[in-house]
Amino acid sequence: MTAPLILDGKKLAAQVRLEVAEKTARLKDQRGITPGLAAVLVGDDPASHVYVKNKRQACADAGMASWLHQLPAGTTQEELLDLVDKLNADDSVHGILVQLPLPKHLDTALILDRIDPRKDVDGLHPDNLGLLADGRPRYLPCTPHGVWQLVKRNGISWAGKNVVILGRSSIVGKSLALLLLQKGVDATVTVCHSRTPNPGHYLKQADIIVAAIGQPLWLKADMVKPGAVVVDVGIHRKPAGGLCGDVSYDEVAPLSSAITPVPGGVGPMTIAMLLVNTVESASLAGK
Ligand code: GUN
Repeated sequence: MTAPLILDGKKLAAQVRLEVAEKTARLKDQRGITPGLAAVLVGDDPASHVYVKNKRQACADAGMASWLHQLPAGTTQEELLDLVDKLNADDSVHGILVQLPLPKHLDTALILDRIDPRKDVDGLHPDNLGLLADGRPRYLPCTPHGVWQLVKRNGISWAGKNVVILGRSSIVGKSLALLLLQKGVDATVTVCHSRTPNPGHYLKQADIIVAAIGQPLWLKADMVKPGAVVVDVGIHRKPAGGLCGDVSYDEVAPLSSAITPVPGGVGPMTIAMLLVNTVESASLAGK
């Protein structure tokens, strides 16, 4: 087998961020609008702090404004809802990002439901997920959008492909399935999850596999059809140090025709797509 194509998310994300910076500059020059993202971070999950820092840095690099609302782990539901209400009413805020996961005592659905759907640049509000399900998307959820573009913009078509998604979360698996079913994307989609008996049966027939199950090194070579495209959404800290994904990269990569690295695959694309949605929201402001 020839060496797989490495789906370089870092490189493509840099290109997308440049496109966002150009659009931001035009919005400033022509309409006096600076796109702005408000990030809300509750508690002290170290990974969430790193993600939010990276998202804000990406905003700054693109010429966008960002604000960090850092709240203690003990924040009450009412306090958080009050903050969301304030951000909804603030015209300089075009996007609201409530970093997940929230501490257990908070009702995530209730909080996300409160975000003005026109400022829901994460694409996780039920209005936006509903529009996507109905085939008329507004904001695409960032990770599924990133996965779609990372494959497509590397010259690989989704159309007519047998795609198996591992994982059924709203934030990745389920919303990616909706995206890939859109007319014009035209994939044939199977979603496997923790209660699927014998997932290997489906995986062996997949032209494209997207792993988003949150289990380190779960996907092994004997589950993958030779020549398959493999996209890894997972990211985990290895006990001995370093990072790995949901895919056993060393054994799966030689079999695949294309594969995402971890880190440097889907992760940077998620951030780039958050900026795409925020600049889109700013361009719709007042219309
Ligand atoms: N936590 C992990 N991924 C995401 C994401 O895309 N958006 C938010 N808000 N939280 C996350």
